Amino acid sequence: MDKLKMIGGKPLQGEVLIAGAKNAALPILCACLLSKDPIELRNVPDLQDVRTMLKLLKNMGVQVSFPDPENRTHLILSAASITSFEATYDIVKTMRASILVLGPLLARLGKATVSLPGGCAIGARPVDQHIKGLKAMGAAMKIKGGNIEAKAERLQGASILTDMITVTGTENLLMAATLAKGTTTLENAAREPEVSDLAELLVKMGAKITGIGSDKLVIEGVDALHGAEHSVIPDRIEAGTFLCAVAAAGGDVLVKHCRPDTLDAVLVKLREVGLDVETGPDWIRAKMQGRPKAVNFRTSEYPAFPTDMQAQLMSVNAIAQGSSTITETIFENRFMHVQELNRLGADIAIEGNTAIAQGVEALSGATVMATDLRASASLVIAGLAAQGETIVDRIYHLDRGYDRMEQKLTQLGANIERVK
Ligand code: EPU
Repeated sequence: MDKLKMIGGKPLQGEVLIAGAKNAALPILCACLLSKDPIELRNVPDLQDVRTMLKLLKNMGVQVSFPDPENRTHLILSAASITSFEATYDIVKTMRASILVLGPLLARLGKATVSLPGGCAIGARPVDQHIKGLKAMGAAMKIKGGNIEAKAERLQGASILTDMITVTGTENLLMAATLAKGTTTLENAAREPEVSDLAELLVKMGAKITGIGSDKLVIEGVDALHGAEHSVIPDRIEAGTFLCAVAAAGGDVLVKHCRPDTLDAVLVKLREVGLDVETGPDWIRAKMQGRPKAVNFRTSEYPAFPTDMQAQLMSVNAIAQGSSTITETIFENRFMHVQELNRLGADIAIEGNTAIAQGVEALSGATVMATDLRASASLVIAGLAAQGETIVDRIYHLDRGYDRMEQKLTQLGANIERVK
């Protein structure tokens, strides 16, 4: 199993290019199931979750080609003939986002069997809202043998108000509604930029959607969708992760190919920390000198502070001047990194859904274990700021969602290497 070994204490200098957003690419890949025509995608990040999704789609009969074999970010998907309607447990258990095939398969082909995802490292994560919404659209849904079995002659437009804001739930129902008969309204819809990016692709495919970017999406179903070309939105979480690395390790970094307008809440907090931030249309320049200042924050749905940045900013707070409270409101168990940060010398306690961090002057390197994707990123950030050698074990979690993170950090002058 691969590990990352790093020696901390070196400020980061230089430029880093941000890849396409994982959480936009995954639903966008599934959207190819909605049409017989090819979908051409650019800026697809080359990472493990994307490879897993492509494997799932290929198993269903989707043809995947790379026009330039050297460039894994540009691909063409064709779902002209679908031979399987199933996402089995062996794939779903490695990637919960597999649930995103449910809406498109049901809408275009009238049937789907998707293994029910179990709990995961960050919480229970049920998919009841996906099921409830599809039922409201007329699908027959039953749970059998650990699978969701869904059938529908043709989905019907419906008014759906989800009990909570759900990102993949909104995406599944949005995709399903594009081919339903009649109009669907999705209220309490997620407003994450990744949802809007998916909606933009669907519109290019001929879908009729209004309210993109708002919490009310109105979709007028059409009989068929056609091919389209699309470039995936830059990954705001990858950009935010590098910014936190600069805030923790110090330095001067130009983050390129990003969308600062999708990072407002993160930039507000990083400025409070003391990061000197300058932004352009698609870049962020971040400079940091000295020790960060502790900041309180609370995760919430977009446009508020993202849960996917909670662990990384906690690492900055771990070495900040002062104490801070960090409240996680989206997932019930997303503090697995706290014990590992404490192994590096941090002083963080958990009370319910709040972590209380007393900033320490310095962390000291140790061997720590990654427990999920963003927890891994927080440990890398802490390791870059710590004195001495840190080894982050189980980095397959990191590889699921970051495209060559250690290479990008090496280019910024960090002393980091992958060891087999
Ligand atoms: N929820 C339900 N029932 C549902 C759906 C959601 O109770 O049917 C609950 C969840 O358990 C959670 C909350 O609602 O407490 C929000 O979950 P949501 O459905 O929004 O999360 P998700 O769609 O499964 C996506 C991202 C996550 C990100 C969350 C929140 C993808 C593929 N995943 O997950 O990304 O943390 O939204 O923004 O888009 C990551 O990239 O590291 C990651 C975990």
